[in-house]
Amino acid sequence: MAKSSTKDDFTLTDNSTGKSYTLPALTGSMGNRLVDISKLYPQTGILTYDPGFSSTAACKSDITYIDGNKGVLMHRGYPIDQLAKHSDYIEVCYLLLYGQLPTPEQKEQFDTDIKHHTLLHEQLIRFYSGFMRSAHPMAVMVGVVGALSAFYHDKMDITDPNEQRVAAHRIIAKMPTIGAYAYKYSLGMPFPMPRNKYTYAENLLHLMFSNPAEDYDINPVLAKAINLLLILHADHEQNASTSTVRLAGSSGANPYACVASGIASLWGPAHGGANEAVLKMLGQIGTSRNIPKFIKKAQDPDDSFRLMGFGHRVYKSYDPRATVLRESCHEVLNVLGINDPQLELAMELEQIALKDAYFIEKKLYPNVDFYSGIIMSALGFPTSMFTVMFAIGRSVGWISHWKEMLMDDHHRIGRPRQLYLGETERKFNPMDKRGHTEKKTSWSWLWGGGR
Ligand code: SDX
Repeated sequence: MAKSSTKDDFTLTDNSTGKSYTLPALTGSMGNRLVDISKLYPQTGILTYDPGFSSTAACKSDITYIDGNKGVLMHRGYPIDQLAKHSDYIEVCYLLLYGQLPTPEQKEQFDTDIKHHTLLHEQLIRFYSGFMRSAHPMAVMVGVVGALSAFYHDKMDITDPNEQRVAAHRIIAKMPTIGAYAYKYSLGMPFPMPRNKYTYAENLLHLMFSNPAEDYDINPVLAKAINLLLILHADHEQNASTSTVRLAGSSGANPYACVASGIASLWGPAHGGANEAVLKMLGQIGTSRNIPKFIKKAQDPDDSFRLMGFGHRVYKSYDPRATVLRESCHEVLNVLGINDPQLELAMELEQIALKDAYFIEKKLYPNVDFYSGIIMSALGFPTSMFTVMFAIGRSVGWISHWKEMLMDDHHRIGRPRQLYLGETERKFNPMDKRGHTEKKTSWSWLWGGGR
């Protein structure tokens, strides 16, 4: 507990004992005040309870700041709309990893470093043939990125800053190749080689859509849209997948295995899988006539249906990324001459939802996933590749947080506690004393469905 309490500190009073404890206050360079409970348990035996960590800061970080009430998102102090407008993904990667926007020379060197890690080991490429062609590309991503740890492990000293740098560069460089190869594999098409003459976004287009039998011309509109999507997905402070990477990395695990754990977490429809779920939902809604029915379904506590692409743990106002993406949707579709009825439907759904009392009361606004799928669909990505694109963009955020955690001299293995509601101690019952359950056709008895 704080030695001499100051006016900013907090006092916790245990009414069952009348004892009071002073808990130090913490304030960051921006954002909410925090109460430091790190000494609470060792000194009082009291644990705290916060399922989903809605009110809990798990670490200190300099990388990204979000103000959910004001719809603010900044990377190293630069607002996301500025980065989206003036930067490119490689520059944002440098910023997230090293804390500053690069000089021209630093950017050129960084870009060259990344380009020299885009190839995959020929034996890693053999992993693809173990998957069914119909495998979801996120399952392939988890497997192949995890397998990278088998190629870069024995000599790795993750405490060495140079090893951390090389691992970060490899992840950023190889994710587009790994993701695009999952798509090519699903089509039974050959794997194109990355081309160093292209920018990061151009290379991703080439890897995804080039055909070895023909020349492939990069469409600058598509490259610009890809660049924007990658920037908007690059990092988002302690979201579920980044927290997963941090927790996995806190034990000293291999960084490629940690990133694979982040990919697994991102895949969920409540997180990065929502972009795929939005397109499926728009397909389910079909026409604007059905919108009121689905808005009602989304509010029914007995109906598991949720308006995918709406709501956010932190944003209780507009997700600034959704604003940028909505504008980009129009630009991309106009330039490509695509009249996508799903965009019209999404816009109408957004308008109706934002005027609905339930969504206003719950502060549910469109998030990054609401429009991203429409753009990716216009760019030619199949729905199953939407979350792969999210993972490619987010890889720099994951590895930047992994690196920041390791550089924190006070970092410890993450090990949350629990509120135990199970059986109290009971005597072991030998088999011949346990009685019998009547024969059941189903296995329900295994989960307590029997007597
Ligand atoms: C991402 O954390 C990040 O930063 C994530 C992310 C990133 O960049 O890493 O921003 C990316 O994951 C964006 C979110 C994508 N997911 C979706 O669009 C799926 C739909 N949204 C929800 O499932 C939900 O809003 C979450 C998961 C995003 C947030 O869930 P919370 O914070 O746990 O909120 P909650 O589920 O407790 O909801 C609060 C209330 C509930 O009602 P009550 O229980 O209070 O009565 O709002 C309701 C929910 O039922 N609600 C919704 C809703 N989202 C929340 N009701 C209808 N439709 C929705 N979409």
